[in-house]
Amino acid sequence: MEPLIATQDLKKVYRVGKVEVHALRGVDLVVQEGEFVAVVGPSGCGKSTLLHILGGLTPPTSGRVLVDGNDFMAMSDAERTRFRRHKIGFVFQRYNLLPTLTARDNIRIAQHIQGNGFNPHRFAMVTEMLGIADKLNRKPYALSGGEQQRVAIARAIICEPKILLADEPTGNLDSENSQIVLNMLRTLNRTFRQTILMITHNPEAAAVADRIVRMRDGRIVGS
Ligand SMILES: Nc1ncnc2c1ncn2[C@@H]1O[C@H](COP(=O)(O)OP(=O)(O)O)[C@@H](O)[C@H]1O
Ligand SMILES: [Mg+2]
Repeated sequence: MEPLIATQDLKKVYRVGKVEVHALRGVDLVVQEGEFVAVVGPSGCGKSTLLHILGGLTPPTSGRVLVDGNDFMAMSDAERTRFRRHKIGFVFQRYNLLPTLTARDNIRIAQHIQGNGFNPHRFAMVTEMLGIADKLNRKPYALSGGEQQRVAIARAIICEPKILLADEPTGNLDSENSQIVLNMLRTLNRTFRQTILMITHNPEAAAVADRIVRMRDGRIVGS
């Protein structure tokens, strides 16, 4: 079976003035559909850079990225943006909710941006599964960090993306809320076969994944 994600000799060099930062030094990563993969490694080893490239947010300096059989580099910017909206959901450490909108509208705006009509069945299923169905009228300030992250996850998956990319999703949460969010990611993966690639430097978070990819200094050193 063709993998959902495949990178080949992926490299990323950031240029800051005259200084070159080699963030990725040749990454070959394969993720199969339905896998829950954790990417771990010390701060600065290139985890976020890898996730941003896989999500089409940042171009690599060289190498190939194939997502669901599509070569990112062969796409125009507009094609890549459309691809990202339809196939990829993002969750970040800071929940990035719009502060003036209710939880409901924060989630619905994702369906709107994607150009999909409102799907009430999907909306009810996702918000119930994430335990936020009774909090939808609240704005972010009236939600706990754990609840805000669950709204952000709902927003990320409402349009049924092929891949959920999560960058330190429990990084701002206490251990109880971390456990709740991790259990929900686990359930999402098991129940909907949601493919998840999650960056973390918390060993307990990594332990909920099926597979742990270890990075160091821009390379994968174990998988
Ligand atoms: N936009 C950027 N400009 C310059 N350097 C960057 C940028 N983003 C990340 N880096 C550098 O690239 C390296 C990898 O960063 P990052 O991918 O954020 O690592 P991690 O997520 O593992 O902490 C670090 O040395 C970081 O300072
Ligand atoms: Mg990072």
